[in-house]
Amino acid sequence: MSITSFDGGQLPSARPKITVTTIQEKKQRHERITCLTAYDYATARLVDQAGIDMILVGDSLAQVVLGYENTLPVTMEEMLHHTRAVRRAVKSAMLIADMPFGAYHEDEKSGVHNALRFVKEAGAEAIKLEGGAQRVSLVKRVIDAEVPVMGHIGLTPQSLHKMGGYKVQGKDFSGIERLVKDAVALDRAGVFSIVLEGVPREVAAMITREVSVPTIGIGAGPDCDGQVLVFHDIMNLTFAEPAKFVRRYGDAAALITTAVQQFKADVETGGYPSDEESYHLPKDTKLELEAILRRKEMKAYTR
Ligand code: KIV
Repeated sequence: MSITSFDGGQLPSARPKITVTTIQEKKQRHERITCLTAYDYATARLVDQAGIDMILVGDSLAQVVLGYENTLPVTMEEMLHHTRAVRRAVKSAMLIADMPFGAYHEDEKSGVHNALRFVKEAGAEAIKLEGGAQRVSLVKRVIDAEVPVMGHIGLTPQSLHKMGGYKVQGKDFSGIERLVKDAVALDRAGVFSIVLEGVPREVAAMITREVSVPTIGIGAGPDCDGQVLVFHDIMNLTFAEPAKFVRRYGDAAALITTAVQQFKADVETGGYPSDEESYHLPKDTKLELEAILRRKEMKAYTR
């Protein structure tokens, strides 16, 4: 399979470009790292302009944008399509693309190939993949192919069926040991950061101290080096009760509903569009047109 080049173009930026180095230096300086998901041009532009460090085109796209029940059905082509749209918007934040379920599970060669596609065809600067020690060999190969990797352990949604549901991980000693081993293995393999999802805060704090790279928490408490949330969760666009760790920072559902209802009412009552919202003919053309219409009317009348 051939890989065609990304040609999205870049907008000029006032803020400095965030890179893997910036992210790693932030941990050393004890500065918190911010990350949000985005899946389209408009949202990504706003998130970038707000100064978020990393933008993740997450496979949560499957649920929050495409309406699937879980993240499993989303395809490489869908992920690439949305990553390209986000790429066209993002100037400063580091852009990370999520490897979808099936894109790296069959063999390492296709895993590396798909990671390269995100960089080459969609302009991503790094990829994220789920799993710990079992992904070490793949992670090394992707990094050898010059693509930075973000790890993701704990409650990994692509393992939904194996986990038997969305369950907080690392609640007993064997679970804690497994998580710490996974984090250390990914750190040694060379990932530039690790997402810790759905783990007790005490375990996240321990891992954060243990590994050299930044940990980015989601449902992992306040002691991680950074935090990531799904954009649609913080803006009330998910049509579901939020998980315990979600904080809503805005109500886009209410804003959109009110605006759409107002538009409907204005159209139905003739309040939209007004004369000011209409285009007009130049004066001379208008007078000429009126004269033509008048002549036509006269003709019809005298016939
Ligand atoms: O897909 C996603 O949005 C994610 C983050 C929540 C970490 O994987």
